[in-house]
Amino acid sequence: MDKFVINGGKPLVGEIEISGAKNEALPLTVASILTDDMSVISNISDLADLRSMISLLEVLGVRSEIKDNVLRIDPSGCDGYEAPYDLVRKMRASVYVLGGLLGRLGRAKVSFPGGCVIGTRPIDLHLMGLEKLGANIKIEHGYIIAEADKLVGTEIFLSGPHGPSVGATVNVMLAAVKAEGVTTIKEASCEPQITELADFLNSMGAKIDGAGTPLLTIHGVKELHGAKHTVIPDRIEAATYMIAGIITRGNLLIKNCVVQHLEPVIQKLKEIGAEFTFDDGCVRVKATDPLKPANIRTAPFPGFPTDAQPQIMSLLATVPGISVISEGIYPDRFIHVSELNRMGADIKVDGAVAVVKGVSNLSGAPVMASELRGGAGLVLAGLSADNQTVVSRVYHIDRGYESMEKKLASVGADIKRVSE
Ligand code: EPZ
Repeated sequence: MDKFVINGGKPLVGEIEISGAKNEALPLTVASILTDDMSVISNISDLADLRSMISLLEVLGVRSEIKDNVLRIDPSGCDGYEAPYDLVRKMRASVYVLGGLLGRLGRAKVSFPGGCVIGTRPIDLHLMGLEKLGANIKIEHGYIIAEADKLVGTEIFLSGPHGPSVGATVNVMLAAVKAEGVTTIKEASCEPQITELADFLNSMGAKIDGAGTPLLTIHGVKELHGAKHTVIPDRIEAATYMIAGIITRGNLLIKNCVVQHLEPVIQKLKEIGAEFTFDDGCVRVKATDPLKPANIRTAPFPGFPTDAQPQIMSLLATVPGISVISEGIYPDRFIHVSELNRMGADIKVDGAVAVVKGVSNLSGAPVMASELRGGAGLVLAGLSADNQTVVSRVYHIDRGYESMEKKLASVGADIKRVSE
């Protein structure tokens, strides 16, 4: 297992290039199986989660190759319908093969993904949506078994207790594009990856309207064909490095961003006291002095993203005054708090709310990443802390950040990957 050894306290200065979005590339790879033709997806990042998805698709008979960040995916041999536990447990997005296989083969047997360290993550909305389209679904021996002689369009309401579900919207879209008739999804997720998935499916021949709004209309088509698509830059990676610039009181140029997708994060960082300039897909961010505390509530897009919550918490832990962070998506996504407190932060959690009493500086310590974004938050804390921070279990971070330590070192961070 690798760890990051960080000697903190150095302002980051320079340029960081953002890679392709993980959470867009994952559904796109599954959407590719809805035809027999080859699809070509560019700007693919080298990420553990994408490798896991490609391994899972290989088990189903899909052949693929990644060269120079371009994924060529040949689904013509995809006749397997069973997604085994060992592959699904590595990554929840594996559950997208449920909709993909139903759309392609009319049957799927997918291991039930279960909970995870950021809290219970049910899939009731996925299953309800697929059932409404006509799939017969059983849960047996830890597997979801779904079968449909034919899928038929209908009206589906996809909002859960914390708002629309990204994953359920993906699964229903994948199953509905080739269903008979019209499917309307009400309270669909509006996240940018849904818009990109709709664009990709439309370029494969699907007929989807309304992506990016809560009302999606899908006119089912009989056949899809292969397509080409370029993955958008990863907004959470961009948010993470913007915060890295501010927490180290540095000055960074973040290259290759969709600024519009970053608005909710930029607005909060401005409130905290960061200064921004924008130029053609590039964002320059620098810290001002003094920074101010802020109150944040995570919410579905266009709200503040839960996937940037641990990172901004690390920043606020270093800003004198009281900040309040409420988790509106995953009430239990606070596993990083005890590790931050070991670094001298003063954070108290009560239910889904964290009260952060900023301190003047964090002190380096050995800490452990337990999930992807929490791990990124600990790295940011280590960059600002005095002395040495060792973040162990960085395999969590490798799931969603391409060469994080190299990108940070290139702008002046003292960070090294060490194999234990
Ligand atoms: C996606 O997860 C992302 N993953 C997550 O990113 C992200 O945190 C999340 O959306 C929210 O933005 C991918 O895109 C691969 P949801 P997903 O279904 O689709 C509840 C990261 O760090 N819910 O939108 O699983 C659920 O419990 C990851 O990159 C139900 O109640 O999230 C949560 O409270 C972590 N029933 C809320 O909805 C359901 O059937 C939103 O979850 C499904 C979800």
